[in-house]
Amino acid sequence: MPLNQQIEMAVKRLKDNDVIGLPTETVYGLAGVITSEQALKKIFSIKQRPFFDPLIVHVASIEQAKTCTTEWSVLAQALAEKFWPGPLTLVLPKTNLISDLITAGLPTVGLRWPRHQVAEAIIRSVGQPLAAPSANKFGRTSPTRAEHVRTEFADQVFVVDGDPSEVGIESTILSIEQNQSQSFKLTLLRKGIVTPSEIDQLLETKTLDYQWNLQPLAGMAPGQMKHHYMPEIPLIVIKSDAKDETTIRAEVNQKLLQLPDEIESVRIRKPKGPIQKTTSLILSNDSALAARQLYSSLRTASQTEAQAIFCWIGPEMKGEAWESVLDRLYKAASLIIE
Ligand code: TXA
Ligand code: MG
Repeated sequence: MPLNQQIEMAVKRLKDNDVIGLPTETVYGLAGVITSEQALKKIFSIKQRPFFDPLIVHVASIEQAKTCTTEWSVLAQALAEKFWPGPLTLVLPKTNLISDLITAGLPTVGLRWPRHQVAEAIIRSVGQPLAAPSANKFGRTSPTRAEHVRTEFADQVFVVDGDPSEVGIESTILSIEQNQSQSFKLTLLRKGIVTPSEIDQLLETKTLDYQWNLQPLAGMAPGQMKHHYMPEIPLIVIKSDAKDETTIRAEVNQKLLQLPDEIESVRIRKPKGPIQKTTSLILSNDSALAARQLYSSLRTASQTEAQAIFCWIGPEMKGEAWESVLDRLYKAASLIIE
């Protein structure tokens, strides 16, 4: 189906309270109109997502973002002007337009303007913001291609094909809290390709009084489980550069046996005995390319005959630019060999 017809179909379904697969520059989302309780409930049910995990609201202008928050500050404006449309989600106090179902009962809402022409066209035609989590089953690898979403949800959702996601991993999530004296507290709730240094660089050019909160309270970032993004077979991440391969394999065989079949409610296909066949996850040594390919490569590796995926953390994978990729790898791992 030509792209303009796919967009039309998506808009129609959204207006009819249905859910669609939405391409964005980070990952594909499972989207519904924010005022449709029916669509929001369908998102949670087909994703098998617990209700304590809030959804991100997608807008296509700063004006639209302002309808969702009671506190559009100078700081939010500065960040939006610099990073929107793009992979940065701002967590701000919500308005009544945003239901408790979206925010999991929190008084705040996550807002983002995606940098993707198809997503923007759909949001504009619908005329309302769209709530969308990543379009994967809870805890599983996020989708970066239309076919990933189709495989995950079969015929339960119509998916718009907007080409492979350019960024490849989810947006950076930043909470902004403002106190009475016009000073701001910033908390990084999820790492992404927009880094704290880039945020500092921008804010230092403004006369704003802000501080980083380096110790987020439990409950500030629900849904940030220890495990996430997990492929169907175990991913083994090897941080050690001291151990030889025989030692590593022996350790993996022994530890895999002790591993439960389900990790944080996500089932993993574990080998029954010693591992015979493995595959390696080879990432680019450019962090942006590694992010772009990560989820797709994890999916491909799961579909081979291999019983486990091995990924070696190379010495070049250091520094701020790598942190978001490493975060995903560690959360996707069934085992980390130190
Ligand atoms: O790049 C992205 O952000 C993608 C695309 C589709 O836009 N979306 C995405 O959604 O990653 P999801 O559902 O996989 O992750 C949403 C996470 C929640 O698990 C939660 O940690 C955080 O965003 N979040 C959302 N609203 C929040 C809020 N009000 N306070 C704190 N964290 C919030
Ligand atoms: Mg997700």
